[in-house]
Order: sequence, then structure tokens, then C-alpha cells
Amino acid sequence: MELFDKNTKMTALVHSNHLLLPVLNRFGLRLGFQEKTVEEICTEEQIDLNFFLAIVNAYHHHDYSPENELKSISAKLIIDYLRKSHLDFLKVSMPKIEAALDKMVKNRKSNDLKIIQKFYSTYKEEFVEHIQDEEEHAFPYVLALQKAHDQKTNPLPKSLAEYSISDYEKDHGDVDVKLFDLKNLIIKYLKPDYRDQDCNEFLYELFHFERDVQDHARIEDQILVTKVLEIEKELKNA
Ligand SMILES: [Fe+2]
Ligand SMILES: [Fe+2]
Repeated sequence: MELFDKNTKMTALVHSNHLLLPVLNRFGLRLGFQEKTVEEICTEEQIDLNFFLAIVNAYHHHDYSPENELKSISAKLIIDYLRKSHLDFLKVSMPKIEAALDKMVKNRKSNDLKIIQKFYSTYKEEFVEHIQDEEEHAFPYVLALQKAHDQKTNPLPKSLAEYSISDYEKDHGDVDVKLFDLKNLIIKYLKPDYRDQDCNEFLYELFHFERDVQDHARIEDQILVTKVLEIEKELKNA
């Protein structure tokens, strides 16, 4: 596996995987990279280099687990990134999916899309609930735990001592399966009176979103949870 490193040209990174573009945006990066390396751009934009590399590599290589980089990355930084992704999902990706679905519905005669609309709205409800749960429970717990760790708080308050990240971070399996089922429903059973471009657009959005969401879940499971478990071990066995 050839990982991106500090000497990789930022332009080359985009050429190797254009799906990284929204990831770069979450770091506040815009195009016009010239011949600059990842390290040069991170220094200029005051981005934590190790964290940036951990994220882009985890996105690009599904088997990559950035254990070494983890130690220097603060939980706050990871959560900031995850929150930006949540916002992206809710404000950019999902409205795009919905606009594509509406277009598809408008241009068709048969009403079998009702099932798809229903399926999508159930999926959305569960997905939004999952995000809210993280924002309201898991993330505040992690931030409080990191603070206690940094300030060497001893003994830990009950609200931290009695819980573990495994109580908060819910399984990602369910939402993944629903999204796959939605795609499958269309690919397998859609009556052929749709406009090709409408249906392709809708499916492209779904495939792209699925990829983004899976990557997000991997960052939560492999980067955040792994790091928090380590902090918990250190604090709770002290
Ligand atoms: Fe999340
Ligand atoms: Fe999640």
C-alpha cells in the first residue's frame, strides 16, 4: 500500500483520488495547490500534518489503520473533523440525493418510486438520529474525557468513570445495510420508464454518499474509538 506522506504533492493527491475533494474542504483547503507538498500546505494553513495524513490515508486505503499517528492527535481535532462531515452530510450530500430523487419522481409515470421515497425517508430518519446521538452523547463524553486526561483530574467524575466509549458509539452496521438495500431496490426492481440520466444521477449520489459515510464510520471506529479506549485504559487503571 503506497501511503500519502508529507512529501506528496497536494495536486498528485487529488489526481490519485478525486473523492478526497470534500475531505480537503473539511480541512478548509481550496484548489490552487501549485507544486506545493502536503507538508508545505499544512504548515501554511496551520493544519496538523499527522492528522491530515491519517485522514486522507484512511479514506484512500480501506485497510489502513493509522495507529502511530494516533498518539499525537487530540480527540478535539478528530471530533471537529467529524462534526464538519456531519454538517456536510446534512447540508450538502442529502439535499443533493433528495433533489435527484425529486427529479426522478417528476419525470416518471408509474408510482413505484413511492416505495423508494418511503425507504429513503426511513433511512434518513435513522441516519439523522445516529448523528444526533453522537453529537449529543458520544462527542461530549470524549471531549470531557480528553480534558480530564489533559488536566490529570483524579478521581474522575462519576459521569466519566462509569461510562465507556463503547456505551456511546453505536454500531454502524444498520445504517450501512439500509443504504445498500436502497440502492439494491432501485437496481433490481425499478420499472423501466425512468429517464436514464435521472436514475444515474440519483444512483451516483447514493454510491458517493455511501463511500463517504463508510469512510466516516471507519474514522470513528478506527481512529476515535481506538484513541478513546487508550485514554480510558490509562485513566481508569491509574
Ligand atoms: Fe458520525
Ligand atoms: Fe457514526
